[in-house]
Amino acid sequence: MKLKDKVAIVTGSSMGIGRAIARRLGEEGATVVLNGRDTAKLARTHFQLSESGIEADSFPADISSPEDCRQLIVHTLRKYGRIDILINNAGISSKGFFEDTHPEIFQQVVDVNLLGSLYATREALPHIKASKGHILFISSLAGLRGIPFQCPYCLSKMAQTALAESLRAELYQKGTHVGIIYVGITKNDPEKRIIFSDGSWKSLPERNHPFAATRTG
Ligand SMILES: NC(=O)c1ccc[n+]([C@@H]2O[C@H](COP(=O)([O-])OP(=O)(O)OC[C@H]3O[C@@H](n4cnc5c(N)ncnc54)[C@H](OP(=O)(O)O)[C@@H]3O)[C@@H](O)[C@H]2O)c1
Repeated sequence: MKLKDKVAIVTGSSMGIGRAIARRLGEEGATVVLNGRDTAKLARTHFQLSESGIEADSFPADISSPEDCRQLIVHTLRKYGRIDILINNAGISSKGFFEDTHPEIFQQVVDVNLLGSLYATREALPHIKASKGHILFISSLAGLRGIPFQCPYCLSKMAQTALAESLRAELYQKGTHVGIIYVGITKNDPEKRIIFSDGSWKSLPERNHPFAATRTG
């Protein structure tokens, strides 16, 4: 129970990797605030984690909205009085040739993956500094190298690296830890959908790649 009495917010934790992270934090004793936009999906995950004995709460918020991020932090503070861990996990993926991709798609991906993590971090930062806590960014191999057909995703994740590294250097001697995790190919949640260059959202077939990491949660 390494995280007993700690309060953690995991953005985008109603499914996929975020849900697995939330479950793991909860198993280590943390109180976990779940987040996502779809209230039914969020309520289902909240119920599942609570059923397993995890102290969980949930708050629907769109992290690409600065006001929603503010509300997420205000809610957590009102309920628990502190924030020790922020996991910036919420993210969307894109697919398509650069030349077919409308600038609005770039904007949408950047709004969630980059600005969303920036807004949440900005709102949580004073409270995480107070608790000498942790801020983690969930990135991807796409945050290290450009990948064909995923230009909006790659540029959003690379810019997130700049955010994480700058913040880390600023907070280096202040007792607040900033980390970034470059996650490899992971078996996706069967419900996962990604945005295509024409703006449509389609389901991503479950990956059977031999090197795909598994999720539990
Ligand atoms: N899967 C992979 O192979 C892989 C590999 C490397 C890195 N990653 C990274 O890991 C993270 C999670 O990926 P995943 O595959 O687990 O994603 P996922 O299965 O598609 O789940 C995304 C989660 O984020 C939420 N979300 C999406 N947009 C949001 C918004 N604007 N505000 C709040 N919540 C939002 C979704 O709920 P709602 O739709 O209800 O909002 C859902 O809970 C992402 O940052 C991704 O880039 C994934």
